Amino acid sequence: MNPLPKHIAIIMDGNGRWAQNLNLPRIDGHKKGIDAVEEITMAARDLGVCYLTLYAFSDENWDRPAEEVVALMDLLVKFLKLKKQKLINNGIRFQTIGDNDRLPKYVQEAIAEEEEATRQCDKMTLIVALSYGARTEICRAVEKIIKQGLKEISPEIFSSFLDTYGIPDPDLLIRTSGELRVSNFLLWQIAYSEFYFLDMLWPDFGKSDLMKAIEDYKKRERRFGKTGEQL
Ligand code: FPP
Repeated sequence: MNPLPKHIAIIMDGNGRWAQNLNLPRIDGHKKGIDAVEEITMAARDLGVCYLTLYAFSDENWDRPAEEVVALMDLLVKFLKLKKQKLINNGIRFQTIGDNDRLPKYVQEAIAEEEEATRQCDKMTLIVALSYGARTEICRAVEKIIKQGLKEISPEIFSSFLDTYGIPDPDLLIRTSGELRVSNFLLWQIAYSEFYFLDMLWPDFGKSDLMKAIEDYKKRERRFGKTGEQL
């Protein structure tokens, strides 16, 4: 049996379909999705997970209708302000990955404030991928490497230029909503992650579903390229 995953990454998909199924506007799906974010964050922390990364807004999501983009930004900022004390009380550090510079000023400020307020928290780190795409993350890393004039690169050196520097690679990647793809999420970091896909839509995903995913993960044989006999 594998121990509890240290780092779980989640592609939270299906908010729009959840709302459409109930004849509600898409944004209501995102609002319900925020409730799931809170439940899963607390559940992961209580279970003893060290890092939880949530894919909240991709590089490609900038192409959604402007009112949906604004609503998502507003929801995130509202979540940060409303839940700051809860994060602190529960020892949850907040961080983001992605291209911060593309975010509106008020979002950047709310993020900086939350990161600062939770800096000393050490029970779990909640990492929100915001304006994030793995390909642009890799390009930004390469630009930094060129600027520093490095001539020799190893996987460890390269990793240290990514947004996830200092964060161990995800052990488990979960995607809700039945889509079987990784959609430009942590492409470098998931090289040896275990994948868990389920049909449920993100707003319906709760603690018991997270526990099922973890139980499934624990039974997997992680060989990292070795033979079963070598383990
Ligand atoms: C995917 O559903 C979900 C998103 C693009 C946004 C997820 C964001 C949140 C739940 C809010 C994030 C906030 C915090 C605090 C982390 P979709 O709209 O692509 O659904 P669909 O595929 O059914 O249309």
